[in-house]
Amino acid sequence: MRRSVITGTGSALPGEIVTNTDLEQRLDTSDAWIVERTGIRERRIAPPGVRTSDLAVEAAAAALAAAGRTAADIDLVIVATATPDETFPATATRVQARLGIRRGAAFDVAAVCSGFVYALTVADAMLKTGGFACALVIGAELFSRILDWADRSTAVLFADGAGAVVLEARDEPAGGRGLLAARLHADGRHGDLLHVDGGPGSTGHVGKLRMKGREVFRHAVQNLAEVTDEVLADAGLTAADIDWIVPHQANVRILEATAKKLDLPMSKLIVTVDRHANTSAASVPLALDTAVRDGRIRPGDLLLMEAMGGGFTWGAVLLRY
Ligand code: ACO
Repeated sequence: MRRSVITGTGSALPGEIVTNTDLEQRLDTSDAWIVERTGIRERRIAPPGVRTSDLAVEAAAAALAAAGRTAADIDLVIVATATPDETFPATATRVQARLGIRRGAAFDVAAVCSGFVYALTVADAMLKTGGFACALVIGAELFSRILDWADRSTAVLFADGAGAVVLEARDEPAGGRGLLAARLHADGRHGDLLHVDGGPGSTGHVGKLRMKGREVFRHAVQNLAEVTDEVLADAGLTAADIDWIVPHQANVRILEATAKKLDLPMSKLIVTVDRHANTSAASVPLALDTAVRDGRIRPGDLLLMEAMGGGFTWGAVLLRY
């Protein structure tokens, strides 16, 4: 059976750590409020001059090394981002050039926080039916560039980072490794609940992120529960079969609600929101790489990756690692 298998993961974070206490100096907020409402303790913010593609290239290079692959093996590059370097060309083509990849396709996917789940699903389809063999799927964001740093209700939540996987088409036996089920959804009627009121780009004049947090929260819990049920049903599995949930890292309370709905202990969730905050499309692959490298996620484990973000967009992927 032709399956899309993750053969390597990587991630990249800017060096500067910004703690909640640091934010107390700039905003009318407190460490206690941020920790209680979100679970976030610190985040990484890139200095001026760093581009989204810089983090994407670093994460992709780490994923290639982990997979034992080189640029010559890659024929598909997809970057999920809401903060591309420029309006065009696609950040994926910048990454492709910098890594020395000379063939195949490269494009961006814009689905905000769901971007990586969307990109993984698109890459899976292209590997299965599109004649592609080996993909780099990257989530990379510089959300610090689109934050209104005077708005305490959003500035404390988001941050910068990148994560990447090498996804390869392989012939696997039934029950073997690879992507088992994926579902994507969007409902554009809710576009204004979480949006940027200006143009794209991590390099120029951009709009700022605006969010009605409480309404987003309500939709997130409901939509994530439904889409999780869908992929489990598609794969003929139950929540009890899941080894690890690798969720989008928006808010620890959303993660707790997800675990509760699935009747799974929090110990089955990979949680990085405390250290990384919400890095949008980067959050799922960043969490995945964290748990692969610290040895929690092992080959053969059943992973549920899920995310919801602006649009609204949401989706889930069930994958045997
Ligand atoms: N510090 C201190 N007080 C704050 C801060 C802050 N940083 N931000 C807001 N407040 C205040 C508000 O002004 C409000 O004060 P008021 O009652 O005097 O008016 C009070 O705290 C409560 O505000 P709410 O917005 O009602 O707080 P809530 O409990 O809903 O928490 C939060 C806000 C954390 C944004 C929550 O709604 C949330 O996490 N929503 C999900 C949004 C999200 O994660 N989006 C990311 C993208 S989508 C996704 O990834 C799922």
